[in-house]
Amino acid sequence: MKTIGLFVGSLRRESFNKKIANHLTGIAPKGYEFKIISLEKLEMYNQDFDDDGNPPASYIEFRKQLNELDGFIFITPEYNRSVPAVLKNAIDVGSRPYGKNSWDGKPGAIISSSLGNISGFGANHHLRQSLVFVNVLTLQQPEAYIASVNKLFDDTGKLTSESTSEFFQKFVDAFAKWVETTT
Ligand SMILES: Cc1cc2nc3c(=O)[nH]c(=O)nc-3n(C[C@H](O)[C@H](O)[C@H](O)COP(=O)(O)O)c2cc1C
Repeated sequence: MKTIGLFVGSLRRESFNKKIANHLTGIAPKGYEFKIISLEKLEMYNQDFDDDGNPPASYIEFRKQLNELDGFIFITPEYNRSVPAVLKNAIDVGSRPYGKNSWDGKPGAIISSSLGNISGFGANHHLRQSLVFVNVLTLQQPEAYIASVNKLFDDTGKLTSESTSEFFQKFVDAFAKWVETTT
């Protein structure tokens, strides 16, 4: 069984990206578990903590979680045409202390969304840029840009769009193949 961490770039209670992550947990391909990794309590990165050899418990726990995962899926809105701070902070915390990058060499994928049609393209590609540097082997195709995300779920948070549901299944199947290729 391979365990893939899902990282959501929004802390909002009714977050559409959390709803996408919840949906994904139910459609993991055979042999895979998709597990949401909470970023709620992860403190803002401060290099002093690592330099002093005294990182906060939230860093230690987060890095341990990363080391136990077989891959990563990032599900994110776009904030001001870029990656929300909560997700960028997670990348930064996971990449340190220097020489101990917990993201290194594992496969990953990105899903971005927005209420409009641009679908978080800016966040998707800014995130891709950081993932190059921390050496996450990021799935290229299919790309996942989810438009009008506010129209895809019912009041209980269930995905109601059939075409989006089919797309997510294709996406996670392609990701599983990518994981097999890269590991
Ligand atoms: C600080 C902030 C900046 C935002 N900037 C953008 C943006 O650049 N592009 C965009 O499409 N939506 C932007 N939005 C709207 C978000 O796409 C929308 O709030 C979305 O619901 C957030 O994702 P969530 O539902 O997972 O919380 C922004 C929202 C916030 C709070």
